[in-house]
Amino acid sequence: MRTYYCGEVRKEQIGETVTLCGWVDRRRDHGGVIFLDLRDRTGLIQIVSDPQRTPDSYQDAEAMRNEYVVQITGRVTARPEDSLNPKLPTGEIEIYADKIEVLNAVRKQLPFQVSTADTETVREDLRLKYRYLDLRRDRMSRNLQLRHQVVKAIRRYLEDEQGFIEVETPILTRSTPEGARDYLVPSRVNPGQWYALPQSPQLFKQLLMVAGFDRYYQIARCFRDEDLRADRQPDFTQLDMEMSFMSQDEILDLSEKLVCHIFKAVKNIDLPRPFPRLTYADALERYGSDKPDTRFGLELVNVSDLLKDSGFKVFSGAISSGGIVKVLPIPGGNETISNVRIKPGGDLFKEANEAGAKGLAYIRVRENGEIDTISAIKDNLTQAQKQELLTRTGATAGTLLLFAADSVNTVNKTLDRLRQFIGSQLGLIDPNKNNLLWVTEFPMFEWNTEDKRLDALHHPFTAPHPDDLDDLKTARAQAYDLVYNGFEIVSGSLRIYQPELQQQVFETIGLSPEEAQSKFGFLLEAFEYGTPPHGGLAYGLDRLVMLLAGEESIRDVIAFPKTQQARCLLTEAPASVDAKQLKELQVASTYKPNSSIRREE
Ligand code: AMO
Ligand code: AMP
Repeated sequence: MRTYYCGEVRKEQIGETVTLCGWVDRRRDHGGVIFLDLRDRTGLIQIVSDPQRTPDSYQDAEAMRNEYVVQITGRVTARPEDSLNPKLPTGEIEIYADKIEVLNAVRKQLPFQVSTADTETVREDLRLKYRYLDLRRDRMSRNLQLRHQVVKAIRRYLEDEQGFIEVETPILTRSTPEGARDYLVPSRVNPGQWYALPQSPQLFKQLLMVAGFDRYYQIARCFRDEDLRADRQPDFTQLDMEMSFMSQDEILDLSEKLVCHIFKAVKNIDLPRPFPRLTYADALERYGSDKPDTRFGLELVNVSDLLKDSGFKVFSGAISSGGIVKVLPIPGGNETISNVRIKPGGDLFKEANEAGAKGLAYIRVRENGEIDTISAIKDNLTQAQKQELLTRTGATAGTLLLFAADSVNTVNKTLDRLRQFIGSQLGLIDPNKNNLLWVTEFPMFEWNTEDKRLDALHHPFTAPHPDDLDDLKTARAQAYDLVYNGFEIVSGSLRIYQPELQQQVFETIGLSPEEAQSKFGFLLEAFEYGTPPHGGLAYGLDRLVMLLAGEESIRDVIAFPKTQQARCLLTEAPASVDAKQLKELQVASTYKPNSSIRREE
């Protein structure tokens, strides 16, 4: 039906008669000459029709409306000098239409203008409801094609250069311990029993290592019933990998090569290797976060030792009750940040407050090391303390120092949030930078204040650091994350492959041997039959593509995503089902339509 894609025709085809198919992006009537932009997934091309040069198509061109599906045959012609369009790859030519045939018309009023020439003002809920129209647009079409290129680069590299094989793992399975809520599926043939959709292929990929597959990967769909954000979807995609007989360094090295291959293939960027590494402890100390955006400075400085006996009770009090005091130094901040913004009611105060801070103390550094601050702080700072504070924070005339004094968690959370807020407000973040960074040596466990017990920070199959086996509770894990411009895009670990150690870890998180047996007995048993040392990682594919596409939400790189309320506006899932279906499943709903559970949209 066609000889070229719209976006492919170039000067070289001048003089040729071509046939193109696509959608009418826009029709412009320039007093007797009609221009049509014809669109397909490769781009746009300009079609021209007028009564003199193309009498056979003129009437059809006049009848053309946006988003009609058409087939056009015409001559490729050089555009006149004054109408070249350097923004379009096809901008040097146009097609004189000898024949225009409507393959299908638009029968209803379009819910929004699809044309890529229009600036983006369409509400997201409308875009999601008519996603097939939204996906016709340049931005979304390019994003999905980029996603495809990324997956293609991954497959080529892992299969052809590193000897990985892809293995599919079940979707109807048992609960996996990644820490989110499970999506459950009732079993009809086993009434009263439930499958869980996998939160990741974690257990199966470890079993594949026991089975000797050595290098496994999968573009794997994962399901997590958790609170959604711009970088979280209830079903999302991982590039999941597992390897046997490889050290942590070897795994990270291979992973870096893969990331470099992807960047080269889709962006033609040569990333410097090796990627920097930061321990979890250092990341928290310097940035207050385990996923720091290192495209800008503004590093935090711990001054707890300096201020522990301070007469300013906000500082010494926080430290004596087990907390810390840290400073966020902002060079030149005296000029860019006013007192109003730091005090209650100000935007910086609000950011700090939302992160849990009760206040936001500050010091302004003036000429000759003089300082400006409230008297309660100034009067309680000795000359030596002041000097040390300036030295440690690298403060010079003009620097603003912001203080957080509270529990370790609150201080880090507060200053991390302020650092990012100020970094972006002051324009310190270079959007062209691609900073990739490994964060290593995560702790094995974190305290779950609600349930009053330790939880595995990564998952309970993660191997502890060999130097820390004496006290598992405080042990570091052989776990690592890859952070890209402040986003966690990869997470992984070396695994436990000795049943005894696995049992100990289960005990540490309060899982009795009986519970462990009933949940993971199949894995523990597999470990008895000759398990190789192994480890792996998983990439958040949606997040990686989002960042490569320069988007701010993973919804914009997923063809049919869900809303923040986990709904698909296009198919209207989730939806109620027939009573008959529920009966067959022997499932009854306890939901009461007028209960307080929110039904949105
Ligand atoms: P983890 O749970 O850290 O590790 O997930 C790996 C990566 O998947 C991405 N991710 C998500 N992306 C979109 N929406 C979500 N709801 C979501 N949740 C996670 C993140 C994250 O870094 N089995 C382990 C990996 C391993 O140990 O090999 C796992 O799933 O980018
Ligand atoms: P207050 O003594 O509560 O009036 O606070 C005196 C100064 O210390 C004010 O500038 C507060 O914003 C600041 N401040 C109070 N609590 C904290 C805190 N936890 N961390 C940092 N600054 C604080």
